[in-house]
Amino acid sequence: MALPLIERFRDRLPVTEATPVISLGEGSTPLLRAPRLSERYGAEVWLKWEAANPTGSYKDRGMTVAVSKAVEEGAEAVVVASTGNTASAAAAYAAKAGIGALVLQPAGAVASGKVAQSRMYGATVLDVRGTFDEALAAARALAARGTHSLVNSVNPYRREGQKTAVFEIVEELGGVPDAIYLPYGGGGNTTSYGQAFAELGGMPSRLIAAEARNRPHTVASAIRIAEPAHRGTAERAIRTTEGALVTLEDDAILAAWSDLARGEGLFCEPSSAAGIAALRVELPPPGSTVVCIVTGHGLKDPAAAEAHAPEPIEVDADPDAIAEAAR
Ligand code: F0G
Repeated sequence: MALPLIERFRDRLPVTEATPVISLGEGSTPLLRAPRLSERYGAEVWLKWEAANPTGSYKDRGMTVAVSKAVEEGAEAVVVASTGNTASAAAAYAAKAGIGALVLQPAGAVASGKVAQSRMYGATVLDVRGTFDEALAAARALAARGTHSLVNSVNPYRREGQKTAVFEIVEELGGVPDAIYLPYGGGGNTTSYGQAFAELGGMPSRLIAAEARNRPHTVASAIRIAEPAHRGTAERAIRTTEGALVTLEDDAILAAWSDLARGEGLFCEPSSAAGIAALRVELPPPGSTVVCIVTGHGLKDPAAAEAHAPEPIEVDADPDAIAEAAR
């Protein structure tokens, strides 16, 4: 059985013997070689399958640390503003800890799988009339009143947990890859990865962060964030690692998303394919080793799949009709 993330990386996380470990078995996710992408780009392309985390996204890495610390500090409830994944992670870890969770989600803008998760984990889910940025401002103001512990990635414990994805990659590859490609929404994850490389010392991987050109209305609803809260630190991490900021059209994200499912057998949500889409823009040098972070599961956003994947064909339960339809 995989160790809880906090136990695996205890020496590199802000925990002590007094910290209760609130775990759902997060981290230690698969690093998968991508044969078709590798062939297409003439590089060794690996995929870090973060959807294998317990709530289906990489958010669990930071949430195990943030909720464990919140409980250590005596919190009775957490609050989060979210495009959906942070919300479901907060709700799940709060449930495990036996404390309350308050979710502020931009009304009508969150993929249905994520809303279903938050509701099932028992969170109080509020549809905020406004954007993600407005919901985040409200969450911060509420947390300042002292009733709830804020577990957005502005909470430093979240970023501490998220940096562990880099440690796993470096451990597994036996060194740093030449580049890491990842989606860029609020920039918390890019900031965390930069932090990981600062701690590791030596040459970092180039961080290639991929954002949607149409930030406020992109089809990739997880990264529908007009104003990244971590722009300064994320873009500094990109510069420090001599990486790149790639800006993508929605069509490019959707094409990479569909290719990943058909070509590599990984069904992620659209935002999670942004790093793969960025391979086309910031080409990996021939023979280099690169890792794309696939951040969240496709089942989070069934409507996106229904809108873009081929429809099933209806047939009678008759072998001739079936053979005909299958041609
Ligand atoms: N991928 C997924 C699946 C996400 O849910 C997010 C962000 C990102 C990438 C971008 O990461 O914000 O650290 O740059 N989701 C947040 C949420 C905003 O509320 O779940 P980032």
